[in-house]
Amino acid sequence: MKQPELDWKNLGFGLTPTDYNIRYTWRDGQWSRGEVHESMELTIPLAATVLHYGQALFEGLKAFRTIDDRIVLFRPEMNGERMERGARKLLMQAPPADLFMEAVTEAVRLNKRFVPPANSGAALYIRPLLIGTGARVGVQPADEYMFTVFVTPVGPYFKNGLRPIRLRVEEEVHRAAPLGVGDVKAAGNYAASMRATHSAKEQGFNDVLYLDSREGKYVDEIGAANFFGIKTINGTPTYVTPRSHSILPSITNDSLLVMAKDLGMKAERRPISVDELPTFDEAGCCGTAAVIAPVGSIQWRNKTITYNDGQNEPGPWTARLYDALQGIRLGKVKDKHGWLVDVE
Ligand SMILES: Cc1ncc(COP(=O)(O)O)c(C=O)c1O
Repeated sequence: MKQPELDWKNLGFGLTPTDYNIRYTWRDGQWSRGEVHESMELTIPLAATVLHYGQALFEGLKAFRTIDDRIVLFRPEMNGERMERGARKLLMQAPPADLFMEAVTEAVRLNKRFVPPANSGAALYIRPLLIGTGARVGVQPADEYMFTVFVTPVGPYFKNGLRPIRLRVEEEVHRAAPLGVGDVKAAGNYAASMRATHSAKEQGFNDVLYLDSREGKYVDEIGAANFFGIKTINGTPTYVTPRSHSILPSITNDSLLVMAKDLGMKAERRPISVDELPTFDEAGCCGTAAVIAPVGSIQWRNKTITYNDGQNEPGPWTARLYDALQGIRLGKVKDKHGWLVDVE
């Protein structure tokens, strides 16, 4: 199989065309068989509900090449479950679990030559997408849906890689409402957050830290990643991550809560007030795209809170968590929780 000529070590988080994508249609009460396409174009009705009423959910996961040359996915069933939860909230038709897994593994298999080498720092990003394609003019759910998966090789989401990033507490934009759809991967959530991220980047920050939209007092999350802080509580290093109705439940974060305990830390999921931010020794954000990005500083009104003594490197616990997570994905560390799924 001809290898693509890509500079794996210097890939950014962008779109590199691959060979194939796979598509399924839900019509007359059932899902079609998967259709393999080479084109990245899609033709849908002008009145499709995705275009007007935002019936759109997506997912993001990665395929990794291990050091013994297997291709693995990390907890892909959790992405399928999250899409199903989203579909229930937006009255959409979710692909059943086995169809989701078939689509994801097939999309990777068909584009195997784009799975980056182990230790390159890159991975094959997988983008499942579910949209309402049925035409409606009134506000109501579509009667036809398309589920599609495309893939693209990517490097780090934050271009500094493991260099600490700078965040700013966001007080002018809320990402999600308490009883809204912030806890599912609805496309509209990302449209709503672009304005804040855009202005933060113009001011020299990497991203923003959203606060809860009820009181503006508690930390929610980052634009496309969950937040965590680390500090010693009663003599034990503790991983703390926010609990909130409007946060997207991150699969990476769920895994880090388990791995923190494996490393001898305590792990807590609870509300984190903004006032608690300066008390952490280390901070970071985590997600499929971000993996673990150490947070070097957070701007909160006119105060700059710094972590890991302001050093330009990840703190010791953040580094251990990163090594543990990537170690499993690259086949360097035993996958004792059974999180990897082989593609072949
Ligand atoms: C808003 C938001 N939070 C958190 C995450 C991280 O979730 P995961 O670890 O499942 O990728 C993502 C990315 O999917 C996201 O878009």
